[in-house]
Amino acid sequence: MKHIFDGLERRRASARLGGGQKRIEAQHARGKLTARERIELLLDHGSFEEFDMFVAHRCTDFGMDQGEKISGDGVVTGWGTVNGRAVFVFAKDFTVFGGSLSETHAQKITKLQDMALKNRAPIIGLFDAGGARIQEGVAALGGYGEVFQRNVLASGVIPQISVIMGPCAGGDVYSPAMTDFIFMVRDTSYMFVTGPDVVKTVTNETVTAEELGGASVHTTKSSIADRAYDNDVEALLQMRRLIDFLPSSNLEEPPEWPAFDEADRMDDSLDTIIPDNPNKPYDIKELIHKVVDEADFFEIQEAHARNMVIGFGRIEGRTVGFVANQPLVLAGVLDIDASKKAARFVRFCDCFNIPIVTFVDVPGFLPGTAQEYGGLIKHGAKLLFAYAEATVPKVTLITRKAFGGAYAVMSSKHLRGDVNYAWPSAQIAVMGAKGAVEIIFRADIGDVDKMARRISEYEQQFLSPFAAAERGYVDAVVAPRDTRKRIARSLALLRGKGFENPRKKHDNIPL
Ligand code: HXC
Repeated sequence: MKHIFDGLERRRASARLGGGQKRIEAQHARGKLTARERIELLLDHGSFEEFDMFVAHRCTDFGMDQGEKISGDGVVTGWGTVNGRAVFVFAKDFTVFGGSLSETHAQKITKLQDMALKNRAPIIGLFDAGGARIQEGVAALGGYGEVFQRNVLASGVIPQISVIMGPCAGGDVYSPAMTDFIFMVRDTSYMFVTGPDVVKTVTNETVTAEELGGASVHTTKSSIADRAYDNDVEALLQMRRLIDFLPSSNLEEPPEWPAFDEADRMDDSLDTIIPDNPNKPYDIKELIHKVVDEADFFEIQEAHARNMVIGFGRIEGRTVGFVANQPLVLAGVLDIDASKKAARFVRFCDCFNIPIVTFVDVPGFLPGTAQEYGGLIKHGAKLLFAYAEATVPKVTLITRKAFGGAYAVMSSKHLRGDVNYAWPSAQIAVMGAKGAVEIIFRADIGDVDKMARRISEYEQQFLSPFAAAERGYVDAVVAPRDTRKRIARSLALLRGKGFENPRKKHDNIPL
């Protein structure tokens, strides 16, 4: 019997070596870990159960039947736990045919996707690959199609996360693009549909891989990536942190972790966070950090559309999605990028039963030809649509400005906000006082005293929360220092919220 066990061990050891020691060393020399090293870091120690370790390609073209068949075929798949909760994981092995996708490689991934969906657990893909296995032609293309189809079926059912840790080109980009979050590693990863050589041929542009699809491009300009990290280790540890915020599927409530922060903790410093001058900014992240448990906030897309802040925190140990205008950047205005960023996040939270807390300080939508030509109407409508369709608990707090259409969009009472608060500093109006008076009293523009009086009248009428409170558009005007307590109590109340939209195949959100 012993020789049989030894044989198994030999085969396992050979499979674990992937493309061999030399290629592993090349991987390390580039500052990258191997697929198996990455999985080890991502999962709880010793929890990884590997599947299909001995799968090999079946290609006979281009001399592929002559060469050595490497077990695993360029992707390591299986499941394990993150802080005790099951997750499925596949990691492209760049040491085997550059991690490229063959027919059998795709079958390993689709088997895992099917299992993740059946067992209702998140799936994480670690990407480091050269696209379709060129020797396999259409079999590889078909393999991608099978993976894409499953990405779509799993969307909104289980969380799907992609981490780009090396090249990610051609067919490899579209599976991540359909997952919930994409993270990248700075300097070692890049993503593009067609690489620098094809770009040069087609458009005559000269561009490096980093300039075309590096982490800095995708976390700032394109918004394809949700965050970037300095190295593999940091990225994987942050994925463990993210998983702790997420429910395993749409049938579950978000996980609840022990909290060491009193739910009714008061914070006097919030009483002075709003500057006396209405045009002076303040950092909305300070409010978020002071409201969440232990100041632990996992920000998404922090480098893109910084006039909007989104991310996960916890209150009483339970996950909450935060959406907040950021007065520090463009005065917190809603533009195309901010609307798209927040809309997708609101929809994610709604899919996965994560309550949404919205902090509002918004001067309106950004005017200008660039925005209008770029489709601000359609993209702004995405956010409006997302909030309006969301049925998860929605708690809103207006800290200062809530002007114009942006007032209605930002989780207002009219879009089924469950509990809507305002601070005494809130200003809820169609627009700022000066602009409003200049329109309705245009004839008096030359009369400085009269205009000053009109502005003061308008300010008294609208630049407070009370006109809205009198109509019940805000449920309560609360002291800033009590914010955490009020939000925590609302969320506790809303735990029992049961609410459904009319039945339909799906909606038609303005894409
Ligand atoms: C087969 C591949 C491969 C591929 C890399 N390799 N990409 N084998 N199919 N797509 C192999 C190499 O032959 C090499 O094998 C090993 O992986 C490492 O590759 P290198 O080129 O030495 O590495 P590096 O210099 O780091 O360059 C990495 C790379 C480059 C930028 C990814 O390999 C590359 O450009 N590959 C081709 C990318 C591509 O065009 N893919 C097809 C996209 S089209 P050895 O034995 O020497 O170690 C596509 C369409 C799908 O994906 C559409 C679906 C809808």
